[in-house]
Amino acid sequence: MNYAEAEKMLKKCGQEHVLAYWKKLNKKEQAALLEQIAKIEPKNLAYCQQALKAGADVPDSSKGKAPKVAVLKGKKLAEAVAAGEKELKAGKVAALLVAGGQGSRLGYEGPKGCYSIGPITGAPLFYFHARKILARTIRYGASIPFYVMTSEANNEATVKCFEENDYFGLNPDDVFFFTQGMWPGMTKDGKIILDQPGRVFMSPDGHGGLLAALKRSGALADMKKRGIKSVFFFQVDNPLVEIADPAFIGYHVLNKSEYSLKLCAKRDPYEKVGMPMEFTVKGRKQYRMVEYTEMTKEQCERKGKDGNLYFLYGSPAIHVFDRAFLDREASRPMPLHLAFKKIPYVDEKGKVVKPAEPNGYKFEKFIFDILPNAKTASFLAFDQKEEFSPVKNAEGNDSPATCKADMQAKWRKWLAAVGVTVASDLPIEIDPAYAVDAIDLAATGIALGAE
Ligand code: UTP
Repeated sequence: MNYAEAEKMLKKCGQEHVLAYWKKLNKKEQAALLEQIAKIEPKNLAYCQQALKAGADVPDSSKGKAPKVAVLKGKKLAEAVAAGEKELKAGKVAALLVAGGQGSRLGYEGPKGCYSIGPITGAPLFYFHARKILARTIRYGASIPFYVMTSEANNEATVKCFEENDYFGLNPDDVFFFTQGMWPGMTKDGKIILDQPGRVFMSPDGHGGLLAALKRSGALADMKKRGIKSVFFFQVDNPLVEIADPAFIGYHVLNKSEYSLKLCAKRDPYEKVGMPMEFTVKGRKQYRMVEYTEMTKEQCERKGKDGNLYFLYGSPAIHVFDRAFLDREASRPMPLHLAFKKIPYVDEKGKVVKPAEPNGYKFEKFIFDILPNAKTASFLAFDQKEEFSPVKNAEGNDSPATCKADMQAKWRKWLAAVGVTVASDLPIEIDPAYAVDAIDLAATGIALGAE
């Protein structure tokens, strides 16, 4: 894109102020600005402006009901595991990781996946994810292609982390990196914000940017070519996640589900997790994720017949998608969520100002917004302690300290099951490629000769 083309496009969209400082920029800055402008699609600008006009339109969730959530045991569990193992052996399962977030609460500079979490080795989060995939690949004798979504800000460092660690043992041909999109920030009246005289303020388009990115990058086409049917989705900050867990995959397949969600009981009535609810829309059952901010106090505290919370199960963002469903959804627009933030801007004199109060909007898409479009959805309960302990904050709840403690408690339990007792003050770490679950650990014969 050259200057004339950029000017024409911006004028058409009422955004010509983006070139206001053009003459003050050096050649390099001018080239960088043109590169940024080239990536901005006019239809996306109009979409953001439309979202601004509509405002934070909170849908009514008062008529929502708790969905039916399965707890698998005995025969049902065995059937699900068998069905999942069949899919895995047939090579029909992929792993999909969203790792494009900024990790601002943790305050870590690099990609969150590079954050050291191994209690003994200090291995990064990516290590635990990749080694689990490797373990399942070995167990089932078929590859599980690993699709990793990054952002423009962390893509290079993410790829470098995998390269420097020999892909943690995975076959590099089975690892596919792709980058999510960026949206420009806007003022209340829909004007693009410059955070430098020669730079548009851009922010990642949220984990829902996944769909467009999967399509744009060719990842969806790659999945199709490989014969993938079920796509296991997870977040980078939870090293306890049971990636491509056969019971979950099998449950999804047996239900002919387009979108399956693992859910866990809330730790307290006000826990900040999304809550899938069932609605009846035009006589048809439909599910939608209701955010914790949308729930009333009554909904949070309501008790069911069994005395437990009625809206008991929240979503920690562990999903299985039907690949064809993702394909269908990737061509449809997704709703935009607005976040009013303090965004640095350039004033009339060309000086950068750091505002003390929020002054502009960031736009994000959320992956769970495709839930209402699923023709079939299913919900499976799991034990939070076993599979969910995210690293969100630097300290306190959901921090590296709580996560490391939960990882070790899980391993300690596996070891106890094979008769090995480890003192509570001794650190433990198990390479997932050595044992991905208690069954694997028992098979290693580790207990032989143990005191
Ligand atoms: P979070 O909502 O926890 O956001 O992301 P975050 O950016 O990691 O952390 P904070 O809020 O800045 O502290 C949940 C998951 O979604 C991914 C993250 O990488 C994480 O796996 N994500 C989030 C993306 O891939 N892209 C985004 O734009 C946002």
